Amino acid sequence: PRERGWHGRYLYLYRDFWVPGYVLTGVISFQQNFQAKDTEIILVTFPKSGTTWLKALVYSIVNRKIFSFDNTPLNTSNVHELVPFLELNLYLNGLNPDLSGIPSPRVFTTHVPYPSLPESIKSTTCRIVYLCRNPFDNFISLWHFLMRTRPKDLEPLSLEYCFDKFCTGTCGYGPFWDHFLGFWNESLKNPNKVLFLMYEDMKMDNKLQMKRLADFLGYPFSENEEKEGVIEKISKFCSFEGMRDLQPNNSGDKVAERFDVASYFRKGEVGDWMNYLTPSMADRLKKVVEEKLRGSGLNLKLFG
Ligand code: A3P
Repeated sequence: PRERGWHGRYLYLYRDFWVPGYVLTGVISFQQNFQAKDTEIILVTFPKSGTTWLKALVYSIVNRKIFSFDNTPLNTSNVHELVPFLELNLYLNGLNPDLSGIPSPRVFTTHVPYPSLPESIKSTTCRIVYLCRNPFDNFISLWHFLMRTRPKDLEPLSLEYCFDKFCTGTCGYGPFWDHFLGFWNESLKNPNKVLFLMYEDMKMDNKLQMKRLADFLGYPFSENEEKEGVIEKISKFCSFEGMRDLQPNNSGDKVAERFDVASYFRKGEVGDWMNYLTPSMADRLKKVVEEKLRGSGLNLKLFG
């Protein structure tokens, strides 16, 4: 089955999730060809849940001993170039790229749901970090992003239309509930393999979440580093304002096709959805999410 996506292109239902047509060959090639190493770090997100932020934090944490932080490559290259997407960048053309030149620790990113990840990601000891955002803000962020990058010759789509599609699961990589529940369930079964983070927790207590992240990845902060304020330094550097204002992140570079890097930085706040969703829309989404979460043990905050 296929449906017209919000972005003006078709979405295809592939293995129980909706894939934007232009990424389909990339997804299949990634599934068939990617060979994870034990040392790999795979970041997984639903689009617009804070991928850019997670990329910057993980890149900074695992590389902090390799370069002095004042000389981080994040100053000169955009973050999506340093931590590429698998199906959206490396495998997009459907070929099997040679990744052997990428130095360890290799950090990659994908939006592909857990059941459809390549076997080697599941069978090796490589680690998965999943970042989840409350669906209200996630939806608003997605709507803004897709309207900003929708071809100018197409009419913008109404918030109401896209909201309806979101609630029924029809958006790129959706349904969103299957996406986060897949990784949530894996994190319960195998906490050394999958770390489940929340955008809102990262905003509220970034230091604590960074420590969790560093411990999980096997790059814990030493007491000395803590005393020297290394965590705060990375946290500030990777903050919304810090990242948005870096030259390579507003240089006009493209992340994929029509998406320029600057469009990955909009507001970076929790609760912006309240400026857009009516009470009845919020109630509808709340009901959808509550029903899907029932029995999962996952407690997503900020339900209106
Ligand atoms: P908003 O549209 O709500 O502002 P992704 O990186 O997955 O595409 O997600 C983009 C969302 O994350 C956008 O949300 C963007 O502003 C926000 N974001 C980008 N960098 C961030 C950062 N360093 N800290 C917090 N949020 C950030």
